[in-house]
Amino acid sequence: APDPDLASLLLAWYDRHARALPWRVSPADRAHGVVADPYRVWLSEIMLQQTTVQAVKPYFETFATRWPRVSDLAAADTEDVMKAWAGLGYYSRARNLKKCADVVASEHGGRFPDNEDGLRALPGIGPYTAAAIAAIAFDRPAAVVDGNIERVFTRLLEIETPLPAAKTEIRAAVGHATPDERPGDFAQALMDLGATICTPKRPACALCPIDKMCQARASGRQEQFPVKPAK
Ligand code: ADE
Repeated sequence: APDPDLASLLLAWYDRHARALPWRVSPADRAHGVVADPYRVWLSEIMLQQTTVQAVKPYFETFATRWPRVSDLAAADTEDVMKAWAGLGYYSRARNLKKCADVVASEHGGRFPDNEDGLRALPGIGPYTAAAIAAIAFDRPAAVVDGNIERVFTRLLEIETPLPAAKTEIRAAVGHATPDERPGDFAQALMDLGATICTPKRPACALCPIDKMCQARASGRQEQFPVKPAK
């Protein structure tokens, strides 16, 4: 089982090294009591489903400026939304984005459901996105597992099972490690760690806040995880 210090080490690292991203609350804003806006969290997570952080940034800014609340997006013309999405690809995401905004505005009084089950019932929101929004926007201790987090955990625990069979084991380990306090920051700390330090090739283990508890690091096998399925 992961060390109980895992979450505290990661959160302390995140407080110093979190990437400044337009959908995140900045440390300065947080100090002034600003909390996550579920609409912005949802919008970013839909855009990030099949698209890199770098590519998403300008689109997120455009959408959040033009349609600052979910009710604004619900009131927008589908045509305009599709045009603003052009270039991001996977256009079913944009159609579902609009549908979801319509449902949240008309059936939920403009407020996103604050739990995984309620979120999963909405258009375009699957298990991963529901967990991410529940954790990041509502501080629910949901187990958030994306590709980055899979890599971090298979290394941490030297999970020898190939993907995708390893997913059950990874999910259980992430669930076990997820703290009741700041679960959204914990998930985003793991994403940032995977994106900036625990990279697929040549991970920067010397800079890693949890290197002491990483089993793959201890045996020098960090680049051998995650184990890929046999072709
Ligand atoms: N990828 C998906 N969600 C993300 C987030 N909240 N921060 C950074 N990368 C992400």
